Amino acid sequence: MSFKKPDEQDVIYFTQLLGEAYVILDKEALTPYSKDYTEDLSFYPDVVLKPATTQDVSAILSYCNTQHIAVTPRGAGTGLSGGALPVKGGISLSMERFNKILKIDERNFQVIVEPGVINEALQNAVKEKGLFYPPDPASKGSCFLGGNIAHSSGGPRAVKYGTTRDYVLNLEVVLADGSIIETGANTLKYSTGYNLTHLMVGSEGTLGVVTQMVLKLIPMPKNTLLLLAPFASAENACEAVSGIFRAGGNPSACEFVEPEGFRLAANMLNMSFEIAENVGAYLLIEVDGNDSEVMMKECEIISEVLYNFQALDVLFAETAAQKEYFWKLRRGIGEATKHNNTYKEEDTVVPRAELPKLFTGVKEIGARHGFRTVCYGHAGDGNLHVNILKDDLSDEFWNKDLNQGIIEIFELCKELKGTISGEHGIGYVQQQFMPIMMPPHQLALMRGIKAAFDPNGILNPGKIF
Ligand code: LAC
Ligand code: ZN
Repeated sequence: MSFKKPDEQDVIYFTQLLGEAYVILDKEALTPYSKDYTEDLSFYPDVVLKPATTQDVSAILSYCNTQHIAVTPRGAGTGLSGGALPVKGGISLSMERFNKILKIDERNFQVIVEPGVINEALQNAVKEKGLFYPPDPASKGSCFLGGNIAHSSGGPRAVKYGTTRDYVLNLEVVLADGSIIETGANTLKYSTGYNLTHLMVGSEGTLGVVTQMVLKLIPMPKNTLLLLAPFASAENACEAVSGIFRAGGNPSACEFVEPEGFRLAANMLNMSFEIAENVGAYLLIEVDGNDSEVMMKECEIISEVLYNFQALDVLFAETAAQKEYFWKLRRGIGEATKHNNTYKEEDTVVPRAELPKLFTGVKEIGARHGFRTVCYGHAGDGNLHVNILKDDLSDEFWNKDLNQGIIEIFELCKELKGTISGEHGIGYVQQQFMPIMMPPHQLALMRGIKAAFDPNGILNPGKIF
């Protein structure tokens, strides 16, 4: 599909609508909008627009739909599948001015918020009222809630509390032709025709632009306990994960980390973290709740399971500072890998008890094709982030032959009844692998949904399929 490049006339229209300050054309100023966190990819938009109201977005989409100009919605640009990259040029629609928390509704445990609010800013604002918004992607300090909706972002706490999807009650969405809808109601249940709210969550900006959201809150648990368990055998660590749940544990985080992940993060962040030579993997486990005795009992049960699977040790973070220390290291792994090496990140996910097979399979595929991986992620969800490192592999191998290895990793996910992305989305970089996951008639069904919402295909073209 070809699109019109915005011309002088179009820029005059946008400038009249938004004001000069919010129409960016200068090449240098466009640069940050040409990238996200995905590898080292860069695609320049022709123009960046910064609307402030739903009416602005409506006018822009209505205009671009008529003119056939591509529009790529953009949050904070922390995505890992290239969802915010304007691969067909045109408009990068930055939602950064939609940055208000409009109403914390303490009576109904809901919050009405705009998509350009940073995840952690929302978490902190509701925490002051004793309320809890659980989805906490590693990039929570910078990612926008709108982007979280685009990919149904998860994070460590998803294992107990679910992903973004589980907290979205209602969305105000501008459709491709500029019309405005509310996808649902501000209710905890909804059985009123097709659930457009859930269709919109995870649609990566291809079906509409979210301009306001109603999110569910829950009471804030008062305490957390954090355990770190090193294992000599990474396979044993993986096996222990489903054991924890079978023993009755219900941790609020259950993360797996290969030592190299912590090493890279510690180096980048200048933090000291000693890794004994015989450690093959760590599990970082959090338990939350209100009753310290009950929480301690749960930790004892979990520790017992960890030792049964040959944990070398089970260390308790004693203080709030220690907990923050471990979490900072954990959250730093993705960025540290990128900082250190050229890499590709795969967001594999399988049913929890299949994690050992996934991990072993990934290592076996890497060994066979000659590439090194650092694996870490949300083990309690069966969600393993596989970072493939370029090291000194040739560009030719990296750009061509490596694909076969990635295909084998994804085929393994499918065979284990998992999928090729748990929380980072398909975006630009994973679309070529979609046929591994679903047959042509299923992809055609998705394309049909896209065409119903966006007949001219102007919204985030070149993504998902
Ligand atoms: C994490 C991001 C990469 O879990 O999803 O660190
Ligand atoms: Zn993650």
